[in-house]
Amino acid sequence: MKRLGLISAAAMFASGAAMADELSVVCSAEQDWCDLMVAAFEAENPDIDVLMVRKSTGETLAQVRAEAGNPKIDVWWGGTGDPHLIAAEEGLSQSSDVDTSELLGWAQNMAQISDGRTVGIYAGALGIAYNADILSEKGIAPPECWGDLEDPRFVGEIQVANPNSSGTAYTELATFVQLFGEDEAMTKLAAVGQNVNSYTKSGSAPSKAAARGETGVSIGFMHDMVKLASQGFPLKIVAPCEGTGYEVGAVSIIEGARNFEGAKKWVEFSLRADIQSRAPEVGAFQVPSNSNAQVAPESPDLASIKLIDYDFATYGSSETRERLLARWDAEVGDPNPEQ
Ligand code: F6P
Repeated sequence: MKRLGLISAAAMFASGAAMADELSVVCSAEQDWCDLMVAAFEAENPDIDVLMVRKSTGETLAQVRAEAGNPKIDVWWGGTGDPHLIAAEEGLSQSSDVDTSELLGWAQNMAQISDGRTVGIYAGALGIAYNADILSEKGIAPPECWGDLEDPRFVGEIQVANPNSSGTAYTELATFVQLFGEDEAMTKLAAVGQNVNSYTKSGSAPSKAAARGETGVSIGFMHDMVKLASQGFPLKIVAPCEGTGYEVGAVSIIEGARNFEGAKKWVEFSLRADIQSRAPEVGAFQVPSNSNAQVAPESPDLASIKLIDYDFATYGSSETRERLLARWDAEVGDPNPEQ
Protein backbone atom coordinates (compact mmCIF):
# COMPACT_ATOMS: atom_id res chain seq x y z
CA MET A 1 0.00 0.00 0.00
CA LYS A 2 1.42 3.37 -0.99
CA ARG A 3 0.86 6.50 1.06
CA LEU A 4 1.61 10.03 -0.05
CA GLY A 5 2.72 12.54 2.54
CA LEU A 6 1.25 16.06 2.44
CA ILE A 7 4.41 17.60 1.03
CA SER A 8 4.84 15.10 -1.77
CA ALA A 9 1.13 15.34 -2.65
CA ALA A 10 1.37 19.15 -2.84
CA ALA A 11 4.51 18.83 -4.94
CA MET A 12 2.74 16.47 -7.35
CA PHE A 13 -0.21 18.83 -7.71
CA ALA A 14 2.19 21.69 -8.40
CA SER A 15 4.06 19.69 -11.02
CA GLY A 16 0.84 18.35 -12.54
CA ALA A 17 1.93 14.75 -11.96
CA ALA A 18 -0.79 12.18 -11.24
CA MET A 19 -1.44 11.32 -7.60
CA ALA A 20 -1.90 7.69 -6.60
CA ASP A 21 -5.54 6.71 -7.05
CA GLU A 22 -7.25 5.02 -4.18
CA LEU A 23 -9.48 2.04 -4.88
CA SER A 24 -11.80 0.91 -2.14
CA VAL A 25 -12.51 -2.84 -2.32
CA VAL A 26 -14.73 -4.94 -0.12
CA CYS A 27 -13.70 -8.56 -0.35
CA SER A 28 -16.16 -11.29 0.67
CA ALA A 29 -13.82 -14.22 -0.03
CA GLU A 30 -11.31 -15.57 2.52
CA GLN A 31 -8.82 -13.05 3.96
CA ASP A 32 -5.72 -14.74 2.49
CA TRP A 33 -7.21 -14.67 -1.03
CA CYS A 34 -8.23 -11.02 -0.57
CA ASP A 35 -4.61 -10.21 0.44
CA LEU A 36 -3.16 -12.10 -2.52
CA MET A 37 -5.47 -10.26 -4.94
CA VAL A 38 -4.56 -6.85 -3.53
CA ALA A 39 -0.81 -7.58 -3.69
CA ALA A 40 -1.05 -8.90 -7.28
CA PHE A 41 -3.22 -5.98 -8.43
CA GLU A 42 -0.99 -3.32 -6.87
CA ALA A 43 2.10 -4.97 -8.39
CA GLU A 44 0.57 -4.48 -11.87
CA ASN A 45 -0.95 -1.08 -11.09
CA PRO A 46 1.63 0.82 -9.04
CA ASP A 47 -0.39 4.03 -9.37
CA ILE A 48 -3.41 2.52 -7.60
CA ASP A 49 -3.50 2.17 -3.82
CA VAL A 50 -6.05 -0.48 -2.81
CA LEU A 51 -7.88 -0.08 0.50
CA MET A 52 -9.41 -3.47 1.22
CA VAL A 53 -11.77 -4.68 3.93
CA ARG A 54 -13.07 -8.27 4.35
CA LYS A 55 -16.80 -8.57 5.07
CA SER A 56 -19.38 -11.33 4.70
CA THR A 57 -21.76 -11.12 1.76
CA GLY A 58 -24.98 -10.18 3.59
CA GLU A 59 -23.11 -7.63 5.68
CA THR A 60 -21.70 -6.06 2.51
CA LEU A 61 -25.15 -5.83 0.92
CA ALA A 62 -26.34 -4.04 4.09
CA GLN A 63 -23.43 -1.56 3.81
CA VAL A 64 -24.02 -0.95 0.10
CA ARG A 65 -27.71 -0.29 0.81
CA ALA A 66 -26.91 2.05 3.72
CA GLU A 67 -24.43 4.02 1.57
CA ALA A 68 -26.69 4.32 -1.50
CA GLY A 69 -26.04 7.69 -3.15
CA ASN A 70 -22.77 8.22 -1.25
CA PRO A 71 -20.85 4.93 -1.53
CA LYS A 72 -17.53 4.36 0.22
CA ILE A 73 -16.95 1.15 -1.75
CA ASP A 74 -15.81 1.18 -5.39
CA VAL A 75 -15.80 -2.54 -6.06
CA TRP A 76 -17.21 -5.57 -4.28
CA TRP A 77 -15.23 -8.70 -5.08
CA GLY A 78 -16.22 -12.19 -3.96
CA GLY A 79 -19.08 -13.49 -1.90
CA THR A 80 -22.09 -15.46 -3.03
CA GLY A 81 -23.89 -14.19 -6.11
CA ASP A 82 -27.44 -13.75 -4.78
CA PRO A 83 -26.74 -10.55 -2.79
CA HIS A 84 -24.73 -9.20 -5.77
CA LEU A 85 -27.81 -9.78 -7.96
CA ILE A 86 -29.98 -8.02 -5.38
CA ALA A 87 -27.64 -5.01 -5.34
CA ALA A 88 -27.94 -4.95 -9.15
CA GLU A 89 -31.74 -5.16 -9.03
CA GLU A 90 -31.86 -2.29 -6.51
CA GLY A 91 -29.68 -0.10 -8.77
CA LEU A 92 -26.80 -0.19 -6.28
CA SER A 93 -24.25 -1.51 -8.78
CA GLN A 94 -23.44 -0.55 -12.35
CA SER A 95 -22.50 -2.26 -15.58
CA SER A 96 -18.77 -2.50 -16.19
CA ASP A 97 -19.19 -3.61 -19.79
CA VAL A 98 -16.28 -6.04 -19.50
CA ASP A 99 -15.58 -8.83 -21.96
CA THR A 100 -17.07 -12.05 -20.59
CA SER A 101 -16.44 -14.22 -23.67
CA GLU A 102 -13.85 -16.44 -21.93
CA LEU A 103 -16.15 -17.14 -18.99
CA LEU A 104 -18.12 -20.33 -18.40
CA GLY A 105 -21.91 -20.28 -18.90
CA TRP A 106 -22.78 -20.05 -15.19
CA ALA A 107 -20.62 -16.92 -14.86
CA GLN A 108 -22.09 -15.26 -17.94
CA ASN A 109 -25.56 -16.10 -16.60
CA MET A 110 -24.96 -13.70 -13.69
CA ALA A 111 -24.18 -10.90 -16.15
CA GLN A 112 -27.28 -11.74 -18.19
CA ILE A 113 -29.62 -11.72 -15.17
CA SER A 114 -28.18 -8.41 -13.94
CA ASP A 115 -27.74 -6.49 -17.23
CA GLY A 116 -23.98 -6.68 -16.80
CA ARG A 117 -23.94 -5.26 -13.27
CA THR A 118 -22.41 -8.37 -11.76
CA VAL A 119 -20.27 -11.16 -13.21
CA GLY A 120 -19.39 -14.64 -11.95
CA ILE A 121 -15.83 -15.27 -10.75
CA TYR A 122 -16.05 -18.76 -9.19
CA ALA A 123 -18.44 -21.56 -8.22
CA GLY A 124 -18.65 -23.94 -5.29
CA ALA A 125 -21.07 -26.49 -3.84
CA LEU A 126 -22.62 -26.51 -0.39
CA GLY A 127 -22.03 -29.47 1.87
CA ILE A 128 -21.64 -30.88 5.35
CA ALA A 129 -18.35 -31.50 7.17
CA TYR A 130 -17.71 -33.47 10.32
CA ASN A 131 -14.74 -33.90 12.60
CA ALA A 132 -14.08 -37.65 12.36
CA ASP A 133 -12.21 -37.75 15.70
CA ILE A 134 -14.99 -35.99 17.62
CA LEU A 135 -17.82 -38.09 16.17
CA SER A 136 -15.98 -41.37 16.72
CA GLU A 137 -15.01 -40.41 20.31
CA LYS A 138 -18.66 -39.64 21.02
CA GLY A 139 -19.93 -42.68 19.13
CA ILE A 140 -22.08 -40.56 16.80
CA ALA A 141 -22.76 -41.99 13.32
CA PRO A 142 -21.72 -39.45 10.64
CA PRO A 143 -24.40 -37.63 8.64
CA GLU A 144 -25.07 -38.56 5.02
CA CYS A 145 -28.10 -36.39 4.27
CA TRP A 146 -29.51 -32.98 5.19
CA GLY A 147 -32.31 -34.88 6.94
CA ASP A 148 -29.78 -36.54 9.30
CA LEU A 149 -28.96 -33.13 10.78
CA GLU A 150 -32.44 -33.08 12.39
CA ASP A 151 -31.61 -36.20 14.41
CA PRO A 152 -31.21 -35.66 18.20
CA ARG A 153 -27.86 -37.50 18.03
CA PHE A 154 -26.43 -34.18 16.80
CA VAL A 155 -27.79 -32.04 19.63
CA GLY A 156 -25.29 -29.25 20.35
CA GLU A 157 -22.96 -30.56 17.61
CA ILE A 158 -23.87 -28.47 14.54
CA GLN A 159 -22.54 -25.05 13.60
CA VAL A 160 -23.72 -22.96 10.65
CA ALA A 161 -23.73 -19.24 9.81
CA ASN A 162 -26.62 -16.80 10.10
CA PRO A 163 -28.22 -16.19 6.67
CA ASN A 164 -28.73 -12.49 7.41
CA SER A 165 -24.98 -11.84 7.48
CA SER A 166 -23.60 -14.79 5.54
CA GLY A 167 -24.06 -15.58 1.86
CA THR A 168 -23.14 -19.20 2.58
CA ALA A 169 -26.02 -19.60 5.03
CA TYR A 170 -28.41 -17.80 2.66
CA THR A 171 -27.39 -20.34 -0.01
CA GLU A 172 -28.27 -23.09 2.49
CA LEU A 173 -31.66 -21.49 3.19
CA ALA A 174 -32.41 -21.12 -0.54
CA THR A 175 -31.19 -24.69 -1.17
CA PHE A 176 -33.58 -26.11 1.45
CA VAL A 177 -36.46 -24.13 -0.10
CA GLN A 178 -35.60 -25.44 -3.59
CA LEU A 179 -35.24 -29.03 -2.35
CA PHE A 180 -38.23 -29.26 -0.01
CA GLY A 181 -40.58 -26.31 -0.71
CA GLU A 182 -40.79 -23.22 1.48
CA ASP A 183 -42.94 -24.46 4.37
CA GLU A 184 -41.15 -27.78 4.77
CA ALA A 185 -37.77 -26.04 4.45
CA MET A 186 -38.59 -23.81 7.43
CA THR A 187 -39.76 -26.82 9.47
CA LYS A 188 -36.58 -28.71 8.63
CA LEU A 189 -34.30 -25.74 9.34
CA ALA A 190 -36.02 -25.22 12.71
CA ALA A 191 -35.48 -28.93 13.51
CA VAL A 192 -31.79 -28.66 12.53
CA GLY A 193 -31.72 -25.49 14.65
CA GLN A 194 -32.49 -27.61 17.74
CA ASN A 195 -29.04 -29.16 17.25
CA VAL A 196 -27.16 -25.93 16.40
CA ASN A 197 -24.73 -24.68 19.05
CA SER A 198 -24.15 -21.30 17.40
CA TYR A 199 -24.92 -19.27 14.28
CA THR A 200 -21.75 -17.48 13.14
CA LYS A 201 -21.46 -14.24 11.17
CA SER A 202 -19.15 -15.63 8.47
CA GLY A 203 -19.89 -18.68 6.35
CA SER A 204 -16.49 -20.37 6.67
CA ALA A 205 -16.26 -20.02 10.48
CA PRO A 206 -18.29 -23.21 11.27
CA SER A 207 -15.96 -25.46 9.26
CA LYS A 208 -12.92 -23.85 10.92
CA ALA A 209 -14.55 -24.63 14.30
CA ALA A 210 -15.22 -28.24 13.20
CA ALA A 211 -11.59 -28.56 12.04
CA ARG A 212 -10.37 -27.44 15.48
CA GLY A 213 -12.78 -29.82 17.23
CA GLU A 214 -14.94 -27.04 18.72
CA THR A 215 -18.04 -28.48 17.06
CA GLY A 216 -18.71 -31.92 15.59
CA VAL A 217 -20.46 -30.88 12.37
CA SER A 218 -20.54 -27.83 10.11
CA ILE A 219 -22.53 -26.67 7.10
CA GLY A 220 -20.66 -24.63 4.51
CA PHE A 221 -18.99 -24.62 1.11
CA MET A 222 -17.06 -27.77 0.28
CA HIS A 223 -14.04 -25.84 -1.07
CA ASP A 224 -13.52 -24.24 2.36
CA MET A 225 -13.72 -27.71 3.93
CA VAL A 226 -11.21 -29.12 1.41
CA LYS A 227 -8.78 -26.34 2.33
CA LEU A 228 -8.95 -27.31 6.01
CA ALA A 229 -8.72 -31.06 5.29
CA SER A 230 -5.65 -30.41 3.08
CA GLN A 231 -4.05 -28.65 6.06
CA GLY A 232 -4.29 -31.93 7.99
CA PHE A 233 -7.44 -31.36 10.08
CA PRO A 234 -9.59 -34.51 10.57
CA LEU A 235 -12.51 -33.15 8.53
CA LYS A 236 -14.63 -35.42 6.36
CA ILE A 237 -16.80 -33.88 3.65
CA VAL A 238 -20.29 -35.04 2.77
CA ALA A 239 -22.31 -34.29 -0.38
CA PRO A 240 -25.86 -34.60 1.08
CA CYS A 241 -27.91 -37.49 -0.33
CA GLU A 242 -30.93 -35.31 -1.24
CA GLY A 243 -28.74 -33.13 -3.51
CA THR A 244 -27.30 -29.72 -2.79
CA GLY A 245 -27.12 -26.11 -3.93
CA TYR A 246 -24.14 -24.11 -5.10
CA GLU A 247 -22.91 -20.55 -5.26
CA VAL A 248 -21.62 -18.46 -8.10
CA GLY A 249 -19.27 -15.97 -6.45
CA ALA A 250 -19.43 -12.55 -8.10
CA VAL A 251 -17.82 -9.14 -8.59
CA SER A 252 -19.70 -5.82 -8.91
CA ILE A 253 -18.83 -2.16 -9.35
CA ILE A 254 -20.87 -0.04 -6.96
CA GLU A 255 -23.15 2.65 -8.42
CA GLY A 256 -21.56 6.06 -7.90
CA ALA A 257 -18.08 4.54 -7.35
CA ARG A 258 -15.53 7.32 -6.86
CA ASN A 259 -12.93 5.41 -8.85
CA PHE A 260 -14.85 3.78 -11.69
CA GLU A 261 -11.78 3.36 -13.93
CA GLY A 262 -9.82 1.64 -11.15
CA ALA A 263 -12.83 -0.53 -10.32
CA LYS A 264 -13.17 -1.60 -13.95
CA LYS A 265 -9.46 -2.49 -14.02
CA TRP A 266 -10.02 -4.62 -10.91
CA VAL A 267 -12.96 -6.46 -12.51
CA GLU A 268 -11.00 -7.15 -15.72
CA PHE A 269 -8.01 -8.28 -13.65
CA SER A 270 -10.10 -10.64 -11.53
CA LEU A 271 -11.63 -12.32 -14.60
CA ARG A 272 -8.26 -13.12 -16.17
CA ALA A 273 -7.26 -16.80 -16.43
CA ASP A 274 -3.74 -16.22 -15.07
CA ILE A 275 -5.08 -14.37 -12.02
CA GLN A 276 -7.83 -16.92 -11.27
CA SER A 277 -5.25 -19.71 -11.62
CA ARG A 278 -3.37 -18.27 -8.62
CA ALA A 279 -6.22 -18.91 -6.13
CA PRO A 280 -4.94 -22.37 -5.07
CA GLU A 281 -1.71 -20.68 -3.82
CA VAL A 282 -3.79 -19.68 -0.78
CA GLY A 283 -6.00 -22.77 -0.71
CA ALA A 284 -8.96 -21.14 -2.47
CA PHE A 285 -10.36 -24.22 -4.21
CA GLN A 286 -13.47 -22.76 -5.84
CA VAL A 287 -13.98 -23.62 -9.52
CA PRO A 288 -12.71 -20.62 -11.53
CA SER A 289 -15.07 -18.90 -13.98
CA ASN A 290 -12.54 -18.31 -16.75
CA SER A 291 -12.59 -21.33 -19.05
CA ASN A 292 -8.80 -21.01 -19.55
CA ALA A 293 -7.96 -20.89 -15.83
CA GLN A 294 -6.42 -23.95 -14.19
CA VAL A 295 -8.73 -25.92 -11.92
CA ALA A 296 -6.85 -27.16 -8.85
CA PRO A 297 -6.90 -30.96 -8.41
CA GLU A 298 -8.28 -30.32 -4.90
CA SER A 299 -11.35 -28.41 -6.21
CA PRO A 300 -14.55 -30.38 -5.60
CA ASP A 301 -15.71 -31.81 -8.93
CA LEU A 302 -19.13 -30.23 -9.41
CA ALA A 303 -20.04 -32.73 -12.14
CA SER A 304 -19.80 -35.61 -9.66
CA ILE A 305 -22.06 -33.92 -7.03
CA LYS A 306 -25.86 -34.13 -7.19
CA LEU A 307 -26.50 -30.40 -7.72
CA ILE A 308 -29.92 -28.77 -7.86
CA ASP A 309 -30.67 -26.42 -10.75
CA TYR A 310 -30.22 -23.40 -8.44
CA ASP A 311 -32.54 -20.60 -9.56
CA PHE A 312 -30.35 -17.49 -9.27
CA ALA A 313 -32.93 -15.13 -10.78
CA THR A 314 -35.48 -16.04 -8.08
CA TYR A 315 -33.22 -16.43 -5.03
CA GLY A 316 -31.12 -13.45 -6.11
CA SER A 317 -34.17 -11.17 -6.01
CA SER A 318 -34.81 -8.73 -3.23
CA GLU A 319 -38.40 -9.79 -2.64
CA THR A 320 -37.51 -13.49 -2.22
CA ARG A 321 -34.53 -12.85 0.05
CA GLU A 322 -36.42 -10.46 2.33
CA ARG A 323 -39.35 -12.88 2.62
CA LEU A 324 -37.15 -15.89 3.35
CA LEU A 325 -35.02 -14.03 5.90
CA ALA A 326 -38.12 -12.74 7.70
CA ARG A 327 -39.46 -16.30 7.88
CA TRP A 328 -36.08 -17.62 9.02
CA ASP A 329 -35.92 -14.99 11.79
CA ALA A 330 -39.46 -15.84 12.93
CA GLU A 331 -39.47 -19.63 12.52
CA VAL A 332 -35.82 -20.68 12.98
CA GLY A 333 -34.09 -17.69 14.58
CA ASP A 334 -30.75 -17.07 16.21
CA PRO A 335 -31.08 -16.85 19.99
CA ASN A 336 -27.64 -15.17 20.38
CA PRO A 337 -26.85 -13.10 17.27
CA GLU A 338 -23.14 -12.18 16.95
CA GLN A 339 -22.65 -8.42 17.10
O1 F6P B 1 -14.06 -19.18 0.58
C1 F6P B 1 -14.83 -18.20 1.08
C2 F6P B 1 -16.28 -18.33 0.74
O2 F6P B 1 -16.78 -19.61 1.06
C3 F6P B 1 -16.66 -18.01 -0.69
O3 F6P B 1 -16.62 -19.10 -1.57
C4 F6P B 1 -18.03 -17.43 -0.52
O4 F6P B 1 -18.43 -16.67 -1.63
C5 F6P B 1 -17.86 -16.61 0.73
O5 F6P B 1 -16.96 -17.36 1.54
C6 F6P B 1 -19.13 -16.36 1.48
O6 F6P B 1 -18.84 -15.84 2.73
P1 F6P B 1 -20.00 -15.47 3.75
O7 F6P B 1 -20.83 -16.69 3.94
O8 F6P B 1 -19.26 -15.11 5.00
O9 F6P B 1 -20.78 -14.35 3.18
